[in-house]
Amino acid sequence: MAGSLVLVGFMGAGKSSALPDVLDTDALLEDQLQMSIASFFAAYGEAKFRRREESVVLRALRSGAPVVALGGGSLGSQAVREALREHTVAWLGVSAETAWERAVGGDRPLASDRDAFTALHAEREPVYAAVADAFLPEADPGLVQRALSALRALGGAPAGTKLVWARSAGGEYPVYVGRGIAGSVLPGAGDGRAFLVTDEHVGPLYAARMRGTHHAITIAAGEEHKTLQSAEQVWRELAREGMGHGDHVVALGGGVVGDLAGFCAATYQRGVAVVQVPTTVVAQVDSAYGGKTGVDLPEAKNYVGAYHQPSAVIADVDTLTTLPPAEHAAGFAEVLKTALIAGGSLWERVSCGAALDERVVLDCARTKLEVVAADERDGGLRQVLNLGHTVGHAIETVTAYRRYRHGEAVALGLLAALRLSDAGELREQVSELLAAAELPTRLDGAVAAEAVVAATRLDKKRRGDEVPFVLVAAPGDVRFGERVASDALLAAVTELRAT
Ligand SMILES: NC(=O)c1ccc[n+]([C@@H]2O[C@H](COP(=O)([O-])OP(=O)(O)OC[C@H]3O[C@@H](n4cnc5c(N)ncnc54)[C@H](O)[C@@H]3O)[C@@H](O)[C@H]2O)c1
Repeated sequence: MAGSLVLVGFMGAGKSSALPDVLDTDALLEDQLQMSIASFFAAYGEAKFRRREESVVLRALRSGAPVVALGGGSLGSQAVREALREHTVAWLGVSAETAWERAVGGDRPLASDRDAFTALHAEREPVYAAVADAFLPEADPGLVQRALSALRALGGAPAGTKLVWARSAGGEYPVYVGRGIAGSVLPGAGDGRAFLVTDEHVGPLYAARMRGTHHAITIAAGEEHKTLQSAEQVWRELAREGMGHGDHVVALGGGVVGDLAGFCAATYQRGVAVVQVPTTVVAQVDSAYGGKTGVDLPEAKNYVGAYHQPSAVIADVDTLTTLPPAEHAAGFAEVLKTALIAGGSLWERVSCGAALDERVVLDCARTKLEVVAADERDGGLRQVLNLGHTVGHAIETVTAYRRYRHGEAVALGLLAALRLSDAGELREQVSELLAAAELPTRLDGAVAAEAVVAATRLDKKRRGDEVPFVLVAAPGDVRFGERVASDALLAAVTELRAT
């Protein structure tokens, strides 16, 4: 691996106890200062402390120690941030609440006032994000150890490859985002023989890159083939080729391949491993993560499926270069949805027309994974990911999955959701962004608004007669489970035909 593995993060993240034999710069400092950090702070102030800290941290980073844990504030030094470029940097997340619980009552000099502590946490998060090669969620005691082989693999992966450690009730797995990594053999990317599932467009472009494929299965491309018939084709071919439990499926393609191959993996012999290798914007920013798999029925979208977390996701942004422009645009709708959910810097960049690069892919993946970590099975928070999808899915169903790409239908669904949110100005802004991306902002006049409204009642989140909606007060302020009057819904869909 390149340099040391350097653990960064806010106080209380558990850096010094994350692995055995961590070189802890706070402990080194206290040795050198011959007093506690709190006493030094009290006697000489923060500025003097930071100068001493910088020299100790720079020395630790030159020491060749396999694992170094940095004090939470040491990234304030530009020299330290520059020195980190030679190393693999893992950011251990911790919420402000947990950090406070761990720090309060101790002798940490910056943990005496709760509001100042929370503000400091918010101020430092972007600093950690800017230097991180790997993003780890709030750590349980064994987490960094379990992620270690994936972390070490970053050192040998193409420059710029990032790792997000995904964790939810159903399991944990590495997510790699980078360029030129589709064929790489990375930790988590499956045991035994690889059974590739791809579609007729993606296979000829990328299947040959997938090293170690034992057998490749090609399905017809497109939403209209996300069916039980295609699933049966895959199940039967896996059976004929003798796939067993020690082997794994590799889903190489867009959301259709990912959902379908994931569903086949969830059900074949009651469950085998699947590695997701997403190749569309939709799949790289959204569908490859979180373990929802399934197929459509003619009656309704995504009606048969299973939760089945992947054993790894490898998102190679280079594969997007061959994506047809219309598919690229369709992906932008999911990016916009994610940015509306996340708010903050992701919304700022996306709403200013930032390029759809690996940073946007990474931030969308992190946003989705955070939501899934809190609620894997749609019991609550995960429903926010459905923003724009209630009307979007209804449009797809009513038009038999042929008239609109998934992302295009979501674009229209977002506009309806923003009208229902009474967020007229934001709707206007989103409409302009969608139009600039050459996405539809107007529903085909041949599609009856009443039929779309009727199809929303098939939404899987319906409880009794109520279809809960996701509404947006402002970017980053999204609410799920909201009631919407049927005449308001009809008006919002009818407006789509008129605008
Ligand atoms: N599971 C989830 O959480 C989730 C989330 C969002 C969307 N989805 C699902 O994702 C599906 C939509 O996915 P999609 O938009 O990726 O569609 P898709 O998989 O149909 O791909 C779009 C088209 O692009 C082609 N293609 C894919 N990668 C390519 C590449 N790199 N170069 C050239 N062509 C390429 C495909 O062959 C296809 O023709 C929908 O079924 C939707 O329900 C699932």
